[in-house]
Amino acid sequence: MKLWGGRFSKNTDSEVNDFNSSIRFDQRMYRQDILGSIAHAKMLGKCNIIPLADSELIVKTLGEILDDVENGKIEFMVDAEDIHMNIETILTNRIGDAGKRLHTGRSRNDQVALDIRMYLKDEIEEIKEMLVSLEKTLLDIAGKNLDTIMPGYTHLQKAQPITLAHHTMAYFEMFKRDIERLCDVYKRINVMPLGSGALAATTYPLDREFVAKELGFDSITLNSLDGVSDRDFVIELASALAIIIMHLSRYSEELILWNTNEFQFIEMDDACSTGSSIMPQKKNPDVAELIRGKSGRVYGDLVSILTTMKGLPLAYNKDMQEDKECIFDAIDTIKLCVPVFEKMIATMKINKDNMHRGAGGGFTNATDAADYLVKKGMPFRQAHEVIGKMVAYALDTNKALSEFTMDEFKKCSEIIEEDIYEAIDLATCVNERSVTGGPAKEAVQKAIDAGIEFVNFIDKK
Ligand code: ARG
Repeated sequence: MKLWGGRFSKNTDSEVNDFNSSIRFDQRMYRQDILGSIAHAKMLGKCNIIPLADSELIVKTLGEILDDVENGKIEFMVDAEDIHMNIETILTNRIGDAGKRLHTGRSRNDQVALDIRMYLKDEIEEIKEMLVSLEKTLLDIAGKNLDTIMPGYTHLQKAQPITLAHHTMAYFEMFKRDIERLCDVYKRINVMPLGSGALAATTYPLDREFVAKELGFDSITLNSLDGVSDRDFVIELASALAIIIMHLSRYSEELILWNTNEFQFIEMDDACSTGSSIMPQKKNPDVAELIRGKSGRVYGDLVSILTTMKGLPLAYNKDMQEDKECIFDAIDTIKLCVPVFEKMIATMKINKDNMHRGAGGGFTNATDAADYLVKKGMPFRQAHEVIGKMVAYALDTNKALSEFTMDEFKKCSEIIEEDIYEAIDLATCVNERSVTGGPAKEAVQKAIDAGIEFVNFIDKK
């Protein structure tokens, strides 16, 4: 019989039973469910809501059940619907009446709200660790490429020279904000909902603060309706995860491009690439492509949860069971992508010469040539025009600006002197941009130092 079978005169239709059951996916919260129940049982005993001996027996037996689940000795039953009733059924089968006292002053509605919060807290910690590890790899790549000049792009057209370190640190900043976002979501998840009951709390004198403390929560929820019916924290996490995969996907796209025969800025390691079943010459960047592709499913997870929640009247509705597969999928996908992405970039070969050559073409130093004239007293708009003409001449004669003779420079503008060569040298172009946030070696080194500090701070937390 079902744990809730008292008022029913028929068994559940077997198809409905399967349809309703969530054990297939919510069993992954077994640990959180058991730990939550242990804290609840302790509190019930301490507050004399159930006999102390029963409370102690429940706590001890739940501990044994946890071990048994972890050692693969337990098979969950579809019939028992979800993880909450599975654990309770197993408990009651083992200790009878004492087990039947566990659910006093509690509903599955506040129980599932508790479990999912606990589960997400654990997962956030793991994802944060993965991102910190990725950040360390980025710092490492940046540190080794402070002088690796490459073209920076806008509109995917060569724009101005930067360094690979500067480019790498751009992604460092993005993932840093991702980590901060996770820390922020964590704060709002870290609130304990047990005691909300089904929707209108409970008549038992529960010690909610005690349960919160036992389970490592910062505080307790302050409205029982909200405590059982809100999932904005799930949506917030899904959104933080969607942003993470967007960053990974963008980065992947750039690496796919750089790995092409046309660019040859990098070469993916053989161990991180795959071949073609028909074209013998092929070596494909599948890892990057898959990560780019998986962004779609994580966005889908976010939109699914948002849509599920949008029309639900307070308080709990079974629709909310649908939050789990989405957020689990988003979490699994991120946990799959971050480490393999890190491995891919840690092992890729960087073709510094090709990057430098790439920065040399396309007049990436044209802005600096204009700035040169400005520093000699010419108004910027006029300098822009002079250099524009210079570029047109260079295109006609198939030359780079640095290949102009002094005569050619003088024809463009009388005020140009020998020091132009130094001024439009790519290394000068990069290293003159030394404002905070710029690509100059010293500026990027400062950003790296700040990055190391951030990573150490998160590590210590
Ligand atoms: N499996 C349910 C869920 O995931 C647990 C809560 C069920 N509550 C209820 N009143 N049916 O949301």
